[in-house]
Amino acid sequence: DRSSSTKIKDLKIGENHTISIIPTKYQFPRVRNLPNKVNKIDLNQKIALIEDRWNPHIVASLNGQDVKVAKVEGEFVWHAHDREDELFFVIKGCLEMQFRDKIEVLKPGQIIVVPCGVEHRPVATEETWIMLLEPHGTDHTGGVKTPLRQDQIKRI
Ligand code: NI
Repeated sequence: DRSSSTKIKDLKIGENHTISIIPTKYQFPRVRNLPNKVNKIDLNQKIALIEDRWNPHIVASLNGQDVKVAKVEGEFVWHAHDREDELFFVIKGCLEMQFRDKIEVLKPGQIIVVPCGVEHRPVATEETWIMLLEPHGTDHTGGVKTPLRQDQIKRI
C-alpha cells in the first residue's frame, strides 16, 4: 500500500540491532520516536567476546556501512579493496599500517582511512583491538585467498 512505501522501516538485525531503511519516496516529517530501541554499544565489551584474530565482527550498521571490531595480532595479508575506502580506529594496543611506500603506526585514539585501490597490510606486534568502518559487504582481504579470510562476517 501507499503508506508503507513512504515510511522508514526499521529492519531488525540480530538481537539488538536495527537498520533504518529509507524509501526513495520518503516524505517529511523526519522526527521519529523510537523508545527503547536506541541503545549504546560498548566496543570493549563486544571485542572481549571475540576469541580469534583478524576476524571482524559487525557491531552496528548505518548508511550502508558496517561498524566492525576485531582483535588483531601478527601479520595480515597485503591487499587492496577495489571500491571501498576503509577506516581503522585503534582502541587498544598498536597497529602498524604498512603501505608500499611507508608505514603508519597507530596508537589508541588514532584512525587512518585507507582509500580504495591502495595496497595495505595491517600488522600488530601485540594483541590490538580495532574498530573498522566500511561499506556493507566489504571483503576484508580484498578478495585475496588466505586462511585468514572469513566468508561470513558475524554480528555480535
Ligand atoms: Ni583492508
